[in-house]
Amino acid sequence: MRTKELQIFVYEYNNISELPNEDQGLVLKAREASSKAYAPYSNFRVGAAILLENGEVVLGNNQENAAFPSGLCAERVAMFYANANFPDVPIKAIAVTASNTKGLLDEPASPCGACRQALAESEIRFKNKIRVILDGTKKVQVLQGIEMLLPFVFKPESMK
Ligand code: THU
Repeated sequence: MRTKELQIFVYEYNNISELPNEDQGLVLKAREASSKAYAPYSNFRVGAAILLENGEVVLGNNQENAAFPSGLCAERVAMFYANANFPDVPIKAIAVTASNTKGLLDEPASPCGACRQALAESEIRFKNKIRVILDGTKKVQVLQGIEMLLPFVFKPESMK
């Protein structure tokens, strides 16, 4: 028997003004995207801004549906748009922000499991780690690579 210890690094900031400029700009775009979410059922508006390695920024937000499972999270809306329109360009970073009826969240909300798995696919496909910036008004978290969010990710090589 062996015990393995895994390390997860989370860089925490008090607010977005402490972030490097590129991250800060991306968070502002994510906030803009969250204000355009279609979330009449949950009233939880999520915005995602993706920075591609070619400098393009792609936005997404959650798109809900009366038949609940038919909706999609902001992160996957943004990522699938990016991959559909820039199929050869790796994702460099994603910023995620969310607001409820009281406004932007104080503490960052973290991507759901399905979005983590979808983002991992992009890292594997392009062999490019994705920087994740999670926005909150009282705390901002930055992680370098999806494995920081999803250890033991399911990988295509597992099928071989
Ligand atoms: N949601 C996202 O857009 N991203 C996540 O990572 C978690 C949840 C959305 C889905 C749904 O529209 C609403 O937030 C409430 O779950």
